[in-house]
Amino acid sequence: MTKRLLRALAGEAVWPPPVWLMRQAGRYLPEYRALRAEAGDFLGLCTNPVLAAEVTLQPLRRFAMDGAILFSDLPIVSWALGQDLRYAEGEGPVLPPIRDAAGLAVLNLKQVADKVAPILETVRRVRAEVGEATLIGFTGGPFTMACYMVEGHGSREFAAARGMAYRDPPLFGALIDLLVEANLVYLRGQADAGAEALMLFDSWAGLLPPSEFATWVTAPTARIVAGLRESHPDVPVIGFPRLAGVKLGAYAVGSGVSAVAMDTSMDPLLAAAMVPSTMALQGNLDPLALAAGGAALASETDALLAAMRGRPFIFNLGHGIVPQTPPEHVAALVTRVRAA
Ligand code: CP3
Repeated sequence: MTKRLLRALAGEAVWPPPVWLMRQAGRYLPEYRALRAEAGDFLGLCTNPVLAAEVTLQPLRRFAMDGAILFSDLPIVSWALGQDLRYAEGEGPVLPPIRDAAGLAVLNLKQVADKVAPILETVRRVRAEVGEATLIGFTGGPFTMACYMVEGHGSREFAAARGMAYRDPPLFGALIDLLVEANLVYLRGQADAGAEALMLFDSWAGLLPPSEFATWVTAPTARIVAGLRESHPDVPVIGFPRLAGVKLGAYAVGSGVSAVAMDTSMDPLLAAAMVPSTMALQGNLDPLALAAGGAALASETDALLAAMRGRPFIFNLGHGIVPQTPPEHVAALVTRVRAA
């Protein structure tokens, strides 16, 4: 029997809908914090197959999730290409910024397969233990990865990266091309190792105006999806162009993804009107409603379920779980979705 989440990704209106949550493994879970302290640094945790597999499975031991997302991080591919990567305590990734051709020349596609080998081993280990849950592999959308690689750290505007895209499109384009190739190597490796679905997190896609969005988000995503269709036609791809707004429809059709994830700001009925009726939508409960719990969580959950009933849908958040979320709220949410 095909797994529930895969049926929804194939376009079936499975009800109650399958459910999993972005960042379902992480700091809101005491068992994650304990294991994280044991592992030391975060990159060490991501590249330790035994510990990373355990972290991936932690939420499944507590909650009846339909999906398990590989525990890793987005800038792993930048690191695999040869860019230094470190995590400042309590902060996001920090990388030496790439600002010119010399910076780009440091990157080497040939070493990606070797460097991601421990993460593919995590995928193999998790796949052996997921049972009825679907193992979701992931990487970053090329635009969002380029944002971190050019800026060197998180930002609200990514002005250096977006400025480079305007001032020197061939240079920015060369970085995007490299990321398309590196992500194809990485995602094909994940699928071969047992990932049953793949997700592309393009968290900063929504910063771009429509023409830039088409060039740097939709087109590179389409190349990745087309490459995967050639090698792995049966592995569905979920695209998450965060904050795309009304550009979601063009992305859904133009990129060729199997399903689209809606961010917190998206009106699910508007999204449903913009994408083909056979395309699964995923999302988009506000992570802060989950953290708040109680009546707000119940009513927001019910409204989302009511809006999506009758179409292919995967219940999720509109962005990752926030660390202050009580685990009991996650349990209550999963129970409520299962009773829909
Ligand atoms: O969803 C999951 O549970 C799988 C694991 C996962 C992580 N990061 C673990 C992580 C996934 C899918 C990501 C994706 C990711 N990473 C994105 C795209 C999604 C998004 O949130 O927009 C981005 C932009 C990143 C880059 C990144 N990594 C940032 C900005 C941060 C700091 C913010 C934060 O939450 O700490 C990280 C660190 C990170 N990635 C942690 C985890 C569990 C925290 C590290 C720790 O334990 O200290």
